[in-house]
Amino acid sequence: MADRTPLIAGNWKMNLEEWQAVELAGSIADGFKGTGVDVVLCPPFPWLVPVAAVLQGTPVALGAQDCSTETAGAYTGQVSPAMLNALCSYVIVGHSERRRDCCESNELVGQKANAALAAGLTPIACVGEALDIRDAGQAISWVEEQVDAIASAVGAEGVARIVIAYEPIWAIGTGRSATPDDAEDVVAAIRARVSATNATAGAQLRILYGGSANAENAAAYLATANIDGLLVGGASLKADSFLEIVSAAI
Ligand code: PGA
Repeated sequence: MADRTPLIAGNWKMNLEEWQAVELAGSIADGFKGTGVDVVLCPPFPWLVPVAAVLQGTPVALGAQDCSTETAGAYTGQVSPAMLNALCSYVIVGHSERRRDCCESNELVGQKANAALAAGLTPIACVGEALDIRDAGQAISWVEEQVDAIASAVGAEGVARIVIAYEPIWAIGTGRSATPDDAEDVVAAIRARVSATNATAGAQLRILYGGSANAENAAAYLATANIDGLLVGGASLKADSFLEIVSAAI
């Protein structure tokens, strides 16, 4: 895996009450020794402040689940990357649930990734195909188009500083994970796509897999040549299962 530090990110989505978020973050911080892998937790917006307080002084990083393309102004309901930067070091952009529910386009996702970088955050930019695209044999070309949009928005210098998460839509929250070989095929294609124009960035870029990743299957993904970590939804909501996934990355 070159010398890329593995990254395990927990995407809590729109789950947990405040006390549960605080308790979960505390248990994960207690159980993580802090070396060999980067760990980031992404709670819902209102719990960023209390979770940041729990994580302060620990090696567990904080991330948000979305950000605006804008810095400040009349954008009701949006949160700027500059505001997040006071609390977070990462932000998920372009999750398939936002592409689906909020009509986020490839172009917008690229702009969000670029805005996040400009504000000093590391974007975790999500890509992935729906089942009909996979069944039509177009998974790789679909994902390459999504990656191209992100890479062109962040530019040659930015692409080495982002994280890409490959999350096949049909595997998210379904219990039907991609096989490690299938995931590795697409992740290798993503790396090759970036490397074709920027070999250094392609070698440095961290690429995660996400979609029904759990304590049982984590090690198999992490043993592949190109998958550098996992974006974990359901299995990140319990400290034990999340910490087992973290251990598999060390
Ligand atoms: P899941 O979600 O692990 O519950 O499939 C992953 C994600 O959507 O990031």
